[in-house]
Amino acid sequence: MNVLVVGQGGREHALLWKLKQSPLVSEVYCAPGNAGTAKDGINVDIADSDVPALVKFAKENEIGLTVVGPEAPLCAGLTDALEKAGLKVFGPSKAAAQLEGSKIFCKKLMRKAAVPTADFWTFTNAEQAEQFLNEREDGPIVVKADGLAAGKGAIVCKNRAEAMDAVRRMLVFREFGDAGRNVLIEECLIGQEASILAIIDGNTIIPLETSQDHKRAHDGDEGPNTGGMGAYSPAPLVTPELMDEILHRVLIPTVHTLSADGIRFRGILYAGIMITEDGPEVLEYNVRFGDPEAQPILMRLKTDLAEVLLAAAEGRLDQIEPLDWDERPTVCVVMASEGYPDSYEKGKPISGLDAAGELENVKVFHAGTRLNGSHVVNNGGRVLGVTAIGDDFFDAKKRAYEAVELIKWPGGWNRTDISDKVSLSLP
Ligand code: AMP
Ligand code: GLY
Repeated sequence: MNVLVVGQGGREHALLWKLKQSPLVSEVYCAPGNAGTAKDGINVDIADSDVPALVKFAKENEIGLTVVGPEAPLCAGLTDALEKAGLKVFGPSKAAAQLEGSKIFCKKLMRKAAVPTADFWTFTNAEQAEQFLNEREDGPIVVKADGLAAGKGAIVCKNRAEAMDAVRRMLVFREFGDAGRNVLIEECLIGQEASILAIIDGNTIIPLETSQDHKRAHDGDEGPNTGGMGAYSPAPLVTPELMDEILHRVLIPTVHTLSADGIRFRGILYAGIMITEDGPEVLEYNVRFGDPEAQPILMRLKTDLAEVLLAAAEGRLDQIEPLDWDERPTVCVVMASEGYPDSYEKGKPISGLDAAGELENVKVFHAGTRLNGSHVVNNGGRVLGVTAIGDDFFDAKKRAYEAVELIKWPGGWNRTDISDKVSLSLP
């Protein structure tokens, strides 16, 4: 069958790369894709927001399965539109995607399902939010925009003054546009974070191997929040007992409560979890693979991804064999443009990609790249996800950074400590 991957980041390149390995798959298209997906598959010049054009393309090109990478098209109803046209798609409906599209919807659902999560309050009016903050003891607190804000909508505040500022940025200055029309104020949780992803077909829930992201820009988790500067899999912090607890206290009640409300969840459910002294608490849900978590996770998957995603799309995950994983760990180092996560210049030629790509046990996933003639140039903030598998974390990290050393472009930079956190959680 032909497969269409929607999106243009490192996650989509990893999905395409893995799907292409399936004997079930003939062609893999990517809309709109990047320089890496153009090399490993076929790019289609359709934006991920152009729902009618994507449906038309899928129909005309006999796409047997569409896999949607990012949250925005899911929240815009791409799955519903494809299904209405009789096409198979992996990714939740618009109704189910609200888990990510509205943080207030998500928190209310978790409250109903008794899923452990921080206490929260909602506001549309700045004065009321300020009064609430004034009446509370001064201390750390989190202010969030309700809607999609490209990963920038959660502001962890050290004190009341910072929280007041965050509230004003959202409700008065409208810095987040409509996404910040409704605001959530949340208790601040303390602990280590882990990403738990599961494939769900509406009934059956299959957790994937664990991973951990690195959200801050600089080494030692310093600097501003980003989309993710690197990730590794597994996250030894998540023990089998903890995973079991997360399955029973978090994933199962969430999917059941959605079902009871008439919403079927089909796709990837990604729980951002804070592991606190009192156990796991959900920080947020995403309704798609994480980026960069998808890169190290998919590199460890031995099972045919196309078979699994098709089974999920058809509601028959209960009939597939348990997923087979490479026991060896993976490390993904994100290389970014100068200036990221703020503004950056595009169009700089990248050298060393071929040499890095020839290293054993390494795959260079492209994110913000594009082809300019035959040259690969940077075209986004996060540019590459250099991913390696190794005998242990030390080996995987060494291989990933050997590849990183070979790749250069003016201003390109990366963290140097991806996966060092593992040692904190190993016995
Ligand atoms: P979110 O967009 O909700 O995932 O939040 C982004 C990041 O903000 C998370 O990965 C956490 O690092 C942090 N964060 C979100 N909510 C809280 C919370 N209640 N307490 C502490 N940190 C939080
Ligand atoms: N890496 C965080 C995310 O995909 O949301």
